[in-house]
Amino acid sequence: MTKKLKIAVVAAEVAPFSKTGGLADVTGSLPKTFHEMGNEVVVITPFYGKLIDPKKYSLTLLEKNFSISAGKNQKVKISLWRGEIEKNLPIYFIEYKKYFSKKQSLYGSTRENSRFALFNYAALEVLKKINFEPDIIQCHDWHAGLIPYLLKKDPTYTEDKFFNKTATVFTIHNLAFQMGGNWWSLAPEKRDSGTAPLPKIHTQAMEKINFAKRAIIFSDALNTVSEKYAEELLTPEFGQGLEKNLQHRQKDFFGIINGIDYSVFNPTIDKNISVNYDWNSLRRKKKNKVFLQKNLKLEENTNIPLIGLASRLAEQKGYNLVIEGLDTLLKLPLQIVIIASGGKEAKEYSDTFKKIAKKYSKKFAFITPYTEEEASKVYAGSDMLLMPSRFEPCGLSPLISLRYGSIPIVHETGGLAETITDFDPKTGKGNGFVFENYTREEFLVSLVRALENFKYEKIWEHLVWQAMKQSFSWEIPGKKYLALFKKALKNRRNA
Ligand code: GLC
Repeated sequence: MTKKLKIAVVAAEVAPFSKTGGLADVTGSLPKTFHEMGNEVVVITPFYGKLIDPKKYSLTLLEKNFSISAGKNQKVKISLWRGEIEKNLPIYFIEYKKYFSKKQSLYGSTRENSRFALFNYAALEVLKKINFEPDIIQCHDWHAGLIPYLLKKDPTYTEDKFFNKTATVFTIHNLAFQMGGNWWSLAPEKRDSGTAPLPKIHTQAMEKINFAKRAIIFSDALNTVSEKYAEELLTPEFGQGLEKNLQHRQKDFFGIINGIDYSVFNPTIDKNISVNYDWNSLRRKKKNKVFLQKNLKLEENTNIPLIGLASRLAEQKGYNLVIEGLDTLLKLPLQIVIIASGGKEAKEYSDTFKKIAKKYSKKFAFITPYTEEEASKVYAGSDMLLMPSRFEPCGLSPLISLRYGSIPIVHETGGLAETITDFDPKTGKGNGFVFENYTREEFLVSLVRALENFKYEKIWEHLVWQAMKQSFSWEIPGKKYLALFKKALKNRRNA
């Protein structure tokens, strides 16, 4: 039998406790897979005071206001909460009110780097506090990106026996995000070299530190969430200024496609939808469609193709293509339902979609903010799901929509190119509709192809049935992660 590992997962968001996107779905489910494979796992995340209700999740306050060190000669006082993701899989929440309990949102502070620097130091201190000596610390995205640096360079940790054998793995969910601010907004000469000593946590200088870059340089191994995006990241077109650093790590850098948690995303048991169904009871899916049409005051008619879209309101997700195509699209016999919230760019898109929804109230609906309850209804009630992202590291919503029998229409990029294959009615093969180049024309052509196929009931049923039976569970990715962790440990030993 292979040796079981002690794995600490560190992330800024973990579903169902806190979520802005797919990152939370992954950090909320992948640790379960590690645990179910027999490893000892803990998860560490911030306690967002205005968002996480300790009662709802039966969290207990382990210790209040204790002092930890957060860099040389710096002390801060934090509190520590504990909950469970499942039995024997604890999740620890770090409470530091000034940074994590003032807002209704997870992100968006002007001191974002300070917030997460504190979180990184605190995560290491908490591991000591709970006496969990990890083999692996898996750091998700930039928010946990200082940990690999600290373990390799900060004497507090390099000289500490506790972390003597600990290897770090950096998992990239989206390299457009590297630090609190936009990395490209800093003049090149002001950008972080990645290797100089860190400034103090609460200082303005901290806001210039590039967490993702440091993680890429110092982690023992690293990965992103699809093989295609891993290849793409090595190029200047996608590499977000870090392609050289990644090329340098190429032999330790892998792509592992995400899975989804079928105990959550599953129309046979989903409590949020009107009628449960599976691939043998597709007629029941239609009832969900009528419910959705009714609730959104769209025309109630199952023959009209209903297209859903469930992505963060961000340029990356391809909303510009959708908006450019809407004039053409809304002349066709179809319905569109968008469910989304978002960050900085969200307002402009929201305003546009609200206007369109007013004008075309029988054909177009916009639901915001995004909630899991409503999203389930869109997956179950729609015939197709749009994800025309300009780039997409993995893209979970098409994987979810497949299980709900809603056929993805996607741009051939990143994880989408890896999971969705173009349907050919002649051979009956494929699980979606794919367009190669990111242009309005190609986008519309793929959509029209989907609409054409929808007209042939038998063909469409076959496509839906086939899509629903596919499995993108964590089982295989879980094994790949374990192999990656072993590689990280080996690199650590040989360093
Ligand atoms: C980010 C990426 C998305 C991916 C998710 C989970 O949100 O943009 O493509 O599916 O992380 O890894």
